[in-house]
Amino acid sequence: MTTILVTGGAGYIGTHTDVELLNKGYDVVCVDNYSNSSPKALDRVEEITGKTVKRYEGDVRDEALMDRIFTENDIDWVIHFASLKSVGESVAKPIEYYDNNLNSTIVLLKAMRTHDVKKVIFSSSATVYGTPKELPLTEESQTGGTTNPYGTTKFFEEQILRDVHVADDSWTVVILRYFNPVGAHESGLIGEDPKGIPANLTPYIAKVALGELKEVQVFGDDYDTPDGSCIRDYINVVDLAKAHVIAMDRMLGGKSLDNVEIFNLGTGNGVSVLELINTFEAATGVKVPHKIVGRREGDIEKVWANPERANKVLGWKATETLADTLASAWKWQERLRERGIM
Ligand code: UD1
Repeated sequence: MTTILVTGGAGYIGTHTDVELLNKGYDVVCVDNYSNSSPKALDRVEEITGKTVKRYEGDVRDEALMDRIFTENDIDWVIHFASLKSVGESVAKPIEYYDNNLNSTIVLLKAMRTHDVKKVIFSSSATVYGTPKELPLTEESQTGGTTNPYGTTKFFEEQILRDVHVADDSWTVVILRYFNPVGAHESGLIGEDPKGIPANLTPYIAKVALGELKEVQVFGDDYDTPDGSCIRDYINVVDLAKAHVIAMDRMLGGKSLDNVEIFNLGTGNGVSVLELINTFEAATGVKVPHKIVGRREGDIEKVWANPERANKVLGWKATETLADTLASAWKWQERLRERGIM
C-alpha cells in the first residue's frame, strides 16, 4: 500500500487531488489547519470516493506535529499544497506570507529528511515567471521578477527544493507550475469556496451569476489583446489534480528522473476575461452582468503555457473544455447554495 501525505489536503486543489489518489487506490493522510478550508470538504471527498482520509488538524510549521505524522504513518510521498495564496493579501501581509509559506516548507523538508521520505511534489505557480518575456511560457522561460510576496514565496520555495536536491540527489522533486486553476468536481460536491468576496475571476463570476454580487468588474479593456482584456490560461482543476497522480505513478513505476523535474500545467490556450464571461454565459445559460473598469494594479497583460513537456514526459494533457469546466464551477456554486456544503 502506498501512502501519500497531502498537506493542505482540505483545500481547493488538495481535495480534487485526494479524490484522484483515493480512486487510484492510494492511501491519503491529510494535514490541514483549515485556515481557508473546512473538514467538511474532506467529508465530501469521502462521500465521492467511499474511502477514508486520515486527518490531522494543524499547521505544517508545527515540528512536533509533523514528526508525529511521519512516525504514525508509513509515508511514501508528499504532495505539498499547504500555503497562503492570496496575491493582494500577500502585499499587505508580507511577514505572514514569508513566515507561513517558507517555514512550512522548511519544517516539512526537515521532517521528511529525518524520516527518510525523500519524494515530494510541490505546488508552484506560473507566477514564478513574473512578467513573461516570451509566450507561450516554457519551463526554461526566465523566472524571477515576481510582482508580489505570494509569488516570491513560490519562487524561493522552488529554489529551496533545488538546493535540497543539489545537496542530496536521492531526493525526487517534482515542481508543478499551475496556470489559472478553475472548475470543480463533476459531482458538485467539492470546489473552490474562498472566504469572503472572491478575488479571483471565476468564483467572482459565479457569485454574480447567483445574484450574490451585482456585477463583474472587468479590469481593463485597453490591453494589447484582441478584445483589450487580459489573457490567461484557465486549467480545469480535475485535469490539474490528475497530473499529480500521473507524475507520482511515473516515479513510482521506476522511471524516476534524475533531476528536479518541472512541469507547466496549463492548456496552452490563452483566453481573455471577456471570452471567459461569454463562455460562462453560453455554458450555463445564466447572464453575468459586467462592466469595464480601470486596470487592476499589478495585473499582467497576457500569460499562457506551453504544456508540451508535461505531455511528452508524463503523457498528461488537459482534456476538459473551458465550457464544461465553467459549467462545473456553476454546478458547484448552485449545490453550495442549496446545501450549504462548506
Ligand atoms: C493570480 C496570481 C496567480 C495565482 C492566482 C490564483 C499573479 C501574477 N497571478 O492570477 O499566481 O495563482 O491569482 O490565486 O500574481 N479579473 C477581472 N475582474 C475580477 C477578477 C479578475 O477582470 O473581478 C481579471 C484579472 O484582471 C485577470 C483575470 O481576470 O486578467 C484573472 O484574474 P485572477 O483570477 O485574479 O488571477 P490572476 O491575477 O491571473
